[in-house]
Amino acid sequence: MAPAAPEPADAGVGVGIAPKRLVAQESVRTEPVGDPATVLAGTRFLITGGGAIAAYLAELLGEYGASGQLGVLDSQQAGEGFDGVLVLDGLTNLDEPLLPDVFPLLQRALATGPRWLLAAGARDAAGAADGMPGLFRTIAREYPQLTARFVEVDPAAAADVLARQLLNEVLTSSEAPVVYLRGDDRYVADLVPVELGALAAGGAGPAGDGVAEAAAIGLEPDSVIVLIGGARGITPWFARTLASASRCRIELVGRTPLPQGPEDPALAAAGDKQALVAALARQGLRNPAEIDRTAQRILAAREVNATIAELTELGGEVRYHTLDVRDTAATRHLLGRIHAEHGRLDGLVYAAGIIEDKLIAEKDPASFTRVFDTKVDGARGLLTALDELPAKPRFVVFFGSIAAAYGNRGQSDYAAANDALDTIGTRYAARTGVRTVTVHWGPWAPGAGHGGMVTAELSREYARRGIGLIDPEEGALALLRELAWADAAVTSVVYTASGW
Ligand SMILES: NC(=O)c1ccc[n+]([C@@H]2O[C@H](COP(=O)([O-])OP(=O)(O)OC[C@H]3O[C@@H](n4cnc5c(N)ncnc54)[C@H](OP(=O)(O)O)[C@@H]3O)[C@@H](O)[C@H]2O)c1
Repeated sequence: MAPAAPEPADAGVGVGIAPKRLVAQESVRTEPVGDPATVLAGTRFLITGGGAIAAYLAELLGEYGASGQLGVLDSQQAGEGFDGVLVLDGLTNLDEPLLPDVFPLLQRALATGPRWLLAAGARDAAGAADGMPGLFRTIAREYPQLTARFVEVDPAAAADVLARQLLNEVLTSSEAPVVYLRGDDRYVADLVPVELGALAAGGAGPAGDGVAEAAAIGLEPDSVIVLIGGARGITPWFARTLASASRCRIELVGRTPLPQGPEDPALAAAGDKQALVAALARQGLRNPAEIDRTAQRILAAREVNATIAELTELGGEVRYHTLDVRDTAATRHLLGRIHAEHGRLDGLVYAAGIIEDKLIAEKDPASFTRVFDTKVDGARGLLTALDELPAKPRFVVFFGSIAAAYGNRGQSDYAAANDALDTIGTRYAARTGVRTVTVHWGPWAPGAGHGGMVTAELSREYARRGIGLIDPEEGALALLRELAWADAAVTSVVYTASGW
């Protein structure tokens, strides 16, 4: 996660540009399939889950001079040096989401340097395979020599048909880490630029103030928008755009507690983290970890206060609530209370998230779970809370990441989590009819006062790699336009200032 501190005003303001909109488009992709006897002779596979499909697959492997050993998901066997590990639990254990629990098995398997790592799943109502495509996109980036693939199948197909399809995937040379098997066809998805059309180009008005968009969305001064993670980072930019375009009521939510009363004058004079650390040390704090934590807490509280002040200045009503969104009961209580007080809840923006970047080989499974659950349990809990309200919101927005759409070295957990948001949101939209969109953002330029996950150091690294950053105001307007003018059937979109 980025430092809690807002970056100094000169840390990158103005370096961002307007993002482009990309949408996934599927097309049939046939790729070379190797000769099974040649490719498979003498190889050993571990197959977890899959029931009858696994049994057929083991039989097929045997026919080609390979062996398929059946195992279970939490098997230590994965680390025994198989040539291939095939995880089919997503097809049979539908009540158990694969993630985050499957991560240690995949990690153990990867550590032994296999040739194949495949997982299969389906788009089922329970979401057993939520996040797996994003994870496999990252595995493919971290292990380029490996055939790493998530295969989405039709669960209604017969077990022997599925077994043959999966064997074909083992034999197929393909760069695609995610494929979709439908009927006799094999699809891959590419992200392609799709503009919003004429309305969006003109709709923001000459000042680009978002007023036309807010009206198109149905926002008015009485509307109530809840932004989880909205008081810090990049989301305050969107809150500002909403507030200035519609003067709506803004309910911000985050973990950071706000101190009672004014800051200690000796600390208030310390404007950045370095100065705060020095001031805290002068006050007698000795433990560096405690000094760091205290400085982060003070800076976080300052950022929340700054957001509240900025939004208040725009003329709307603003409140801040302290809540850890992983606490499902507290989340339900808060949304229920907000709805009861205002008699409405028009929009929910879910932007909370943490990062703890590490390559898969070095990743602590507990860290994977922390990063994954913050997004995924948080999202699931919020949607359950919305279901309990007397009326549905107009829209739900999930802040995802380009890391989910393309994979990103060092972000297996974060890519998986953001990808899971996508399918969770899509199912919610299908079930309720509520306009729901997951926006997979490329990196934002750290704006004044609200830096977000892209620190000044990271933004220099992006510059070195030629990766452009999103201008915060342009990013916020792009989201407003998406809600106003995009086809509601599009539940997942990438906004990025550059390639990845
Ligand atoms: N910045 C970017 O370039 C970028 C790019 C792609 C995607 N994103 C996505 O955009 C969202 C915001 O990112 P950011 O850069 O603004 O990150 P950030 O500065 O770290 O902000 C994260 C926000 O989430 C809140 N939060 C974290 N855990 C929470 C929890 N358990 N309960 C409630 N609130 C929680 C934080 O507030 P507290 O600490 O007070 O809880 C903070 O407001 C994230 O979902 C991220 O994945 C950002």
